[in-house]
Amino acid sequence: MSTHIAAAPGEIAETVLLPGDPLRAEWIAATYLDDVTCYSKVRNMLGFTGTYQGQRVSVQGTGMGQPSMSIYVHELLADYGARTLVRVGSCGGLLDRVAIRDLVIGISAATDSSMNALRFEGVHYAPTADFSLVRAYVEKAEAAGARYHVGQIFSTDSFYHDRPELRDRLTRYGVLAVEMEAAALYALAAKFAARAVAVCTVSDNLVTGEETSADERERTFAEMVELALDAVTT
Ligand code: ADE
Repeated sequence: MSTHIAAAPGEIAETVLLPGDPLRAEWIAATYLDDVTCYSKVRNMLGFTGTYQGQRVSVQGTGMGQPSMSIYVHELLADYGARTLVRVGSCGGLLDRVAIRDLVIGISAATDSSMNALRFEGVHYAPTADFSLVRAYVEKAEAAGARYHVGQIFSTDSFYHDRPELRDRLTRYGVLAVEMEAAALYALAAKFAARAVAVCTVSDNLVTGEETSADERERTFAEMVELALDAVTT
């Protein structure tokens, strides 16, 4: 086992879906995967492996924010040989047109976190998704007739903050949405020459003040996960 994941070598698939909430990991495994095993319960940050249309896929909860996510993703990459990582999460829309229930595919991620700044010693690294994963996801979203946006997202360390001017500026510069993990995920994938993309459903819009209900969040989460599974197994 690694420090925070209790799997034996070979128990985790090369392709891993990454919800923040471990109970969502359990739900994805129970709903979509066959022949499921739970490989880790350490700190209740559940991880499962199963098959989707005959292909091995794992689902690992990551917790919220870049420090927590980075622990699990580092170990998946360094200790278990993960190669393809898809974060499936939620985000807050920063543009009017990024409406609640829409899908956002983060092709790049700005951040106020110091994690990448420290890693690159003052260089303003541009965390970028893997293009083949972006393209595969977009193809599935198109085919399904889903409402989706592709562009830059903002990975913040602070869900609660008092910086309305910064939010307005990000909106003026066309940043689609705010979430809390993608920037460090993309840097870690690059470090290990792996592929990553963050896909999010819009749970709230910071410009219009709209919010999804719990029912809507569940439905849009399911749609996002189905497209992710189809995108990584074709
Ligand atoms: N995830 C969903 N909504 C968010 C928000 N408003 N800020 C950061 N992360 C989010």
